[in-house]
Amino acid sequence: MKLGVIGCGKMGTALVEGALKAGAVSAADITGCDPVQAALDAFTQATGAATAADAAAIGASCDTILLATKPHDVAAALKLAAKGANGQPRLVISIAAGLTLTTLEGSAPDTFRIIRTMPNTPAMVGQGATAFCRGTHATPADAETALRLLSAVGHAIEVPERLMNAVTGLSGSGPAYVYLIIEALADGGVKAGLGRADSIKLAAQTVLGAAAMVMETGLHPAVLKDMVTSPGGTTIAALAEMEKHGVRAAMIGAVDAAVRRAAELGGS
Ligand SMILES: NC(=O)c1ccc[n+]([C@@H]2O[C@H](COP(=O)([O-])OP(=O)(O)OC[C@H]3O[C@@H](n4cnc5c(N)ncnc54)[C@H](O)[C@@H]3O)[C@@H](O)[C@H]2O)c1
Repeated sequence: MKLGVIGCGKMGTALVEGALKAGAVSAADITGCDPVQAALDAFTQATGAATAADAAAIGASCDTILLATKPHDVAAALKLAAKGANGQPRLVISIAAGLTLTTLEGSAPDTFRIIRTMPNTPAMVGQGATAFCRGTHATPADAETALRLLSAVGHAIEVPERLMNAVTGLSGSGPAYVYLIIEALADGGVKAGLGRADSIKLAAQTVLGAAAMVMETGLHPAVLKDMVTSPGGTTIAALAEMEKHGVRAAMIGAVDAAVRRAAELGGS
């Protein structure tokens, strides 16, 4: 696979770094392009990949393209890549938030097999949660390629496109919900006398550890919760307080609000 990266900003660089670390691709097979020299320099420094002049050069030389520009730059980048590809087939993996397969395919020739993805920012530290869906011309082998690349920076699943707004509302926007929870837990620690820095570390590590328990044991969160809730103990006292304040309903409502907003913004 010759992997071309169009848009070597934060996410493009993070995804390539992860793919390299996981051995999903080697630096010798990667070329990036970005009109901003500072972004390109940071990309090459982080990845050791080669650079190309523009998206047309990537389209000409790479069979697989990671499209990682901001959504409003995607159509122009795709047109340039198509010009460079000059009719040759290409797999294009887009990470542009909210751009539908119809929109992406509308800016690309039929020889471009498109995959739309929704990663989240923890991909930057190898702990992303990503969902992707296949366009009209993308094959099962293309889905496997996308899965291999995206799994290198966390957990990845394939979903039908109609669920992409749900993904946006849950894992796309989700890191912010968890930051708020970590901040609030840390406030609780500070209220009880712990220092701010220690409180944030304890809160964040508790979230990390609990998440790892869910992922590694495969147990339902309710089972794990019951396992640490002794009769008449501290944990049930806290859980009763959380239920009184509707934390569960607030979380469901938060995801629901983000899903509705994603639909309003035009994703499907
Ligand atoms: N950062 C996030 O939280 C996040 C999460 C999920 C998805 N995304 C998606 O990832 C994409 C990139 O986001 P980011 O935060 O890395 O943005 P960024 O601004 O850091 O990177 C985008 C890069 O694309 C470059 N670019 C623009 N036009 C180009 C062209 N024609 N050819 C080559 N490069 C071009 C820009 O110069 C810039 O360096 C966005 O579409 C965003 O929706 C971001």
